[in-house]
Amino acid sequence: MESREQFSSKLGLVLAAAGSAVGLGNVWRFPTEVGSGGGAAFILVYLLCVALVGVPVMISEFIIGRHTHANAITAFSRLAPGRLWRLEGVASVFVAFIILSYYIVVSGWTLFYLVQSAVGRLAGQEDYVRMHTDFASHPWYPVFCTVAFMCLVHVIVARGIQSGIERFSKVLMPMLLLIISILVICSFSMPGASQGWRFLLHPDFSTLDTHVVLSAVGQAFYSLSLAMGCLCTYASYFTSDTRLVKTAFSVSLLDTLVAVLSVFIIFPAVFSLSAVEADSGPGLVFVTLPGVFDMAFGHLPLLEYLFSTLFYLLLSLAALTSAISLHESVTAYVLEAFRLPRRVATLLVTVSASLLGVGCTLSFGPMKSFTLFGKTLFELFDSVSSLVIMPLGGIVFCLFVGWVMERRVVFAEFTNGGRHAVRLFRIFLFLIRYVVPVAIGLIFINGIV
Ligand code: TRP
Repeated sequence: MESREQFSSKLGLVLAAAGSAVGLGNVWRFPTEVGSGGGAAFILVYLLCVALVGVPVMISEFIIGRHTHANAITAFSRLAPGRLWRLEGVASVFVAFIILSYYIVVSGWTLFYLVQSAVGRLAGQEDYVRMHTDFASHPWYPVFCTVAFMCLVHVIVARGIQSGIERFSKVLMPMLLLIISILVICSFSMPGASQGWRFLLHPDFSTLDTHVVLSAVGQAFYSLSLAMGCLCTYASYFTSDTRLVKTAFSVSLLDTLVAVLSVFIIFPAVFSLSAVEADSGPGLVFVTLPGVFDMAFGHLPLLEYLFSTLFYLLLSLAALTSAISLHESVTAYVLEAFRLPRRVATLLVTVSASLLGVGCTLSFGPMKSFTLFGKTLFELFDSVSSLVIMPLGGIVFCLFVGWVMERRVVFAEFTNGGRHAVRLFRIFLFLIRYVVPVAIGLIFINGIV
C-alpha cells in the first residue's frame, strides 16, 4: 500500500483543522442564531456547549482518526469489525457529502457578492432584498457561482494534504485573521455601536427555552465541524507526536474567537443604524449588511468599498477552507475504499456534489415549489443535519470512544503514551461517557417534542 500522507508541521495542522472549523458557520450562521436566540444569553449557552460538549467530541474524533490513520468509514470498521458502529462511519461520510452540496450554494453567493463589491456594483443599490432574491432565484447565475466555487475547492483537494490543504490553510487562515481584526476595529468606531454591544453583553435569559439550547448545541457542532468525519479524517493525517488535547483546545479557541468577533463586527454595525431588525434571518449578511455598509459609509465611498470587499473576501476564504474539509472527508473514503488515484477520487466527488449543489441552488428559484415536509431542499438539508444528525452523531462518537474502544488505547492516544495531559484523562472520560450523551439526549428529546 502507498504510504499515507501526513501534515508536515504542527502549525499547518492546527491551521488546517481551524480552517475546517472556521467557516460560514461562524460568520453567517452564528450571527443569525445569536440574533434569533436573543443575543448575550445565547452566546453564553453557546460557550458552555463548546467547552462541555464540543471539545470532548472533538478529542474523541481525533482519537479515532489518529489511531486508525484511515477515513471515517474504514476507521469504524477497523475498530469494531462487522458491527453496527460502521453505520456511523457511513452516515457521517454521507452527511458530509450532503452538507458539502448545500454549503457550496451559500459559498457561491459569497463569491458573487465579493465580485459585485470588488467591481463597485454592490454599493448604492436601491433594494437589497430584491437584489438578493433576484440573484438567488436567477436560473443560472447562482448555478455558475456554485460550480465556480466548487472548482476552487477541487483544485486544492486534488493536490493532496501537504501541498494542497496544508499549504493553502497556512496562507488563507492568517489572511482571514488579519481581515477580521481590521473589520472589528472599523465596526467599533461606528457611531451608535454601543447599542449593539448592549445586545451582545447583557444577557436576557427569558428568551431561553429548550429549542434555543438545542440550536446552541447544533451550532457548536456545526461550527466546530464535528460528527461528520471531517476532523477524524484530518486527524488521520496527524503524526504520532501531535498533542490531541492541545490541538483540540487551540482549534476550538480559534473557532470561537472568530465566531464572537463576527458578531462584534455585525451587530454594532446593524444597531448603529437602528432601522434594521437584529434577527433578519439568513439574509443578515447578504441583505442587511450591504444596506448597513451603504448607510454607514454612504459619504465615504472608498471606505465602504474597502469594508464590504474585505468582508466578503473574509466570508469566501472562510467558506473555502471549510468546504475543503468536507470534500476531503468524502474523498478520503472514495480514494481508499476503491483504491483510486487522488485525482480521480476528487473528480468523482466534485462532480456528484456539484450536481446535488445545483439542485439546492435551484431550490431558491425554479425549484422553489418542490418541498419536503414544508421545506425546500436547502432548508431541509440545513436543519436536518444540524438539529438531528450532528447531535446524534456526536453522541455516537462519544459512546464509541468512551465505552467501545479499549481504554488502554484511548488513554495512549489522549496522552501520547502517558506524556501529556494525563490528569485531564479522567475528566475527559467522565464527560464522554456520561455528561455529553445524557446532555445531548435530554436536550434532543426536549427539543423535538
Ligand atoms: N465548521 C464549518 C463552518 O463553521 C462547516 C463545516 C465544515 C462542517 N466541516 C463540517 C460542519 C463538518 C459540520 C460537519 O462553517
